[in-house]
Amino acid sequence: MSANENHTPNALPAGYRFNEFEIKEVIGGGGFGIVYRAWDHQLERTIAIKEYMPVSLAVRADDLSLELRGERFQKLFNAGRSSFIQEARLLARFNHPGLLHVLRFWEENDTAYMGTLYYSGMTLKEWQVTSPDSIDEAWIRRLLPPLFGAINTIHAAGYLHRDISLDNIQIQENQLPVLLDFGSARKEIGNLSDETEIMLKPGFAPIEQYSEEGEIEQGPWTDIYALGAVLHNLIAGHAPPVSVVRCIEDNYQPLVERQPEGYSLPLLHAIDCALAMKPADRPQSIDAFASLIDLPVSDVEALVTTFPVAAEAPAAEPVAIVVPEPQVMAVNHAAAAIEPVTPRNVRRLSPGLVAAAAIAILAVVVVVWKTNRHSETAPIAAAPSASAPVASNNAAGSAPSLATVYLRLQEGEKVLLNGEAKDVKPASSGFASLNLAAGNYRIEVHNGSQVLSQSLTIDKPGTWLINPGKP
Ligand SMILES: Nc1ncnc2c1ncn2[C@@H]1O[C@H](COP(=O)(O)OP(=O)(O)O)[C@@H](O)[C@H]1O
Ligand SMILES: [Mg+2]
Repeated sequence: MSANENHTPNALPAGYRFNEFEIKEVIGGGGFGIVYRAWDHQLERTIAIKEYMPVSLAVRADDLSLELRGERFQKLFNAGRSSFIQEARLLARFNHPGLLHVLRFWEENDTAYMGTLYYSGMTLKEWQVTSPDSIDEAWIRRLLPPLFGAINTIHAAGYLHRDISLDNIQIQENQLPVLLDFGSARKEIGNLSDETEIMLKPGFAPIEQYSEEGEIEQGPWTDIYALGAVLHNLIAGHAPPVSVVRCIEDNYQPLVERQPEGYSLPLLHAIDCALAMKPADRPQSIDAFASLIDLPVSDVEALVTTFPVAAEAPAAEPVAIVVPEPQVMAVNHAAAAIEPVTPRNVRRLSPGLVAAAAIAILAVVVVVWKTNRHSETAPIAAAPSASAPVASNNAAGSAPSLATVYLRLQEGEKVLLNGEAKDVKPASSGFASLNLAAGNYRIEVHNGSQVLSQSLTIDKPGTWLINPGKP
């Protein structure tokens, strides 16, 4: 289908090539950019391409380059493009499965482009419209830990998102969320043209985003307000009143008073706190917000998001071996529940490939995964290659192993499985692995001064990543 048939004005036509990338169709975009689904002919996979295209300032000419609507827009156009470039650079610094992964950046057609991973699913805004019945407290509690992890990663690097909203969170088919964009170009153009309504999303932006620069300090609490507004929207069906209006007369009715059916008071109370008008009254960090709801801040769960990248079948399919449907499990020691996620394409992979994929994923995740045991939080170096961990152990004696469990381990740390010492050592990835048969296990890590432990029930084939904590 061509872009014109697609009725997206100013879009590049289907079939348009940027070297190995071929535009397939328009998948989204608003007034400041167009998002395309594209095919990477070299790596034979689907990617997404974001094009900087502020419709109020520019149009597409016949030669497909962008032309200003008037010379007077040059400054605004350039400022927006600079912000778009800054956003690409910022996103490229992170390697977090819950943050849009930028593959490439380039300038062409008198504008700028970002090649990114393609994520299945739809925005949370679309999800709310198409699957309203799925949204309940359990669903929200599953959504939050990886989302907390993504936002926390931005904060830990010293940045704020400032544009968290329903339409910037993609819910992938495996239900794991990805923060799609920071809206930098839109915010910059809105700011320079003094148009607050362009710059900020009413109902989501807290009061400090409306105030003059420096008047009220922005910080993690600024994103926490927006996240509170997202959750308010999911539960109440609408955003809270616009913060500038609340400033004059606060007609916000706390959720704990409204008590919508099916939601617990701790969750409702946490959202009310996040939506406090005064920044100081809100949770000051994602950790503080998460602990109000008794949820972990996780970037571990998010490792399975790597799977949807292979949504489109590669040219050479792996040999089909029928195995029981494996599951990739992500477990955080602080999580009350263990969430299994079944990636769509895993069934096509042999157990060996699943293990190799898991190790490759770990190599990515290790970069961003800060365990509670290493609070100095220097990023842990990624494994240089997807080599197998040094020590693999069939702990179950003669019983066939069903699952591979990976755990972070340092040299010198000792592992006990159900009280029995195991000879496992960390691989270069910083993880050790255990092959376990079905059963109940208690895994302890002794590091001299302390003992960390985790209980585990293996009842399905799969790959597990565990993070033992203090008992
Ligand atoms: N990498 C991606 N993979 C799949 N869909 C995407 C991707 N990036 C954006 N989209 C889709 O494009 C639309 C707009 O995305 P977004 O990045 O928020 O742009 P904007 O805020 O400029 O409209 C959304 O519907 C989203 O689902
Ligand atoms: Mg957006």
